[in-house]
Amino acid sequence: MAGKIRVVVLYGGRSGEHDVSLKSAASVLHHLDRTRFEVIPVSIDKTGRWQWNDLHALDQAHAASLPILPDAPEMRLARGPDGRGALMPITQGAAAPIEIDVVFPVMHGPLCEDGTVQGLLELAEVAYVGSGVLASAISMDKDVAKRLAEFAGIPVAPYHVLTRKAFIQDRTSSLAKAVEGLSLPVFVKPCNMGSSVGIHKVKTWDALGTALDDAFRYDVKVLVEQGIDAREIEVAVLEGETLFSSVASELNPNAHHEFYSYEAKYLDPDGARVDLPARLDAAQMERVRSLATEVFAALECTGFARVDFFLDRQTGKFCFNEINTLPGFTSISMYPKMMEASGVPYGELLTRLVDLALDRHRQRQSLERGYASQSCCVTRINASGAGDGRTS
Ligand SMILES: Nc1ncnc2c1ncn2[C@@H]1O[C@H](COP(=O)(O)OP(=O)(O)O)[C@@H](O)[C@H]1O
Ligand SMILES: [Mg+2]
Repeated sequence: MAGKIRVVVLYGGRSGEHDVSLKSAASVLHHLDRTRFEVIPVSIDKTGRWQWNDLHALDQAHAASLPILPDAPEMRLARGPDGRGALMPITQGAAAPIEIDVVFPVMHGPLCEDGTVQGLLELAEVAYVGSGVLASAISMDKDVAKRLAEFAGIPVAPYHVLTRKAFIQDRTSSLAKAVEGLSLPVFVKPCNMGSSVGIHKVKTWDALGTALDDAFRYDVKVLVEQGIDAREIEVAVLEGETLFSSVASELNPNAHHEFYSYEAKYLDPDGARVDLPARLDAAQMERVRSLATEVFAALECTGFARVDFFLDRQTGKFCFNEINTLPGFTSISMYPKMMEASGVPYGELLTRLVDLALDRHRQRQSLERGYASQSCCVTRINASGAGDGRTS
């Protein structure tokens, strides 16, 4: 094993996309280059329990969906005794901590992709694939992501943000604010969800209140967004010497779905047809590829991301819809398929993502952290014992 890079594949997670993660992770496990990487599969179950799964048993299972093994020992990931990231078994009499080199979080949605897990990995001082805390959190928030994109000159659909607090306090004026300058249909969306959960296409103003009531079940911040007669175009972005954007694809939800809903995404096998490459003319293709890298940069992403756009059928203009910093990674997921169509095969893509993670970690580790210069600022409590313990 000497010389191999230890990669933890982190899968499952506490979001509604737990089951998608199991599929993504099965694919990642299968394609990671075992000649370069020693793979350690660590699952997070729906209650948040971390378990170390036996790789051999998982390999033998050949499952399209990576199981969480019932007897897998519980463990946690933390900064190890020598200051590096390590897996710490938490059952009594268990083995010593195992140092690891890099974590590949193959999980999607809140508490997986939104900077929370990334913050834990930062504290554990371990390299990890994908965006850091800031970019992950920004990208998960549909409002903040759009604001930053707009600030960088990237068009977005007009929308209003409503908070649950204001909506409960004054429903009438919140509803009035929500419709200002917008025309039917509008889309009501919880700010920090995914998989179209809690999203409503509102076709009459009478239906807006009920849609908001439902969306506020999922989030304290909800967007009311101008509905667009749109084609849905996606681009995969990969970091390198320069940012690389893949050939774009188009998702065509089946006509019997009102939009690309949860049902169309996961329950209906004929929910959508994919065009890869998207049927765009050369100028449109170039435009959307360049917008994708602009969004990636504006949101301070690192590693990789899938950037989703609407192409307005009426105006012929693109607008940015959303970004996924840990996109689906099953063998039929759009991110790996778009990269493959652009000349980067799945296995090579994984190797590049791990290398990027290690490189970013090395660069950040080499930064001065300012400990030495702050050593004079020791905590002082005044004679009465009061004070907040800060000296600056
Ligand atoms: N402004 C809009 N105009 C038209 N369709 C929309 C709009 N917003 C969302 N949709 C539809 O809803 C789907 C899900 O919305 P999206 O913002 O991508 O949320 P999610 O993170 O759940 O995928 C989109 O793929 C699209 O079909
Ligand atoms: Mg979407």
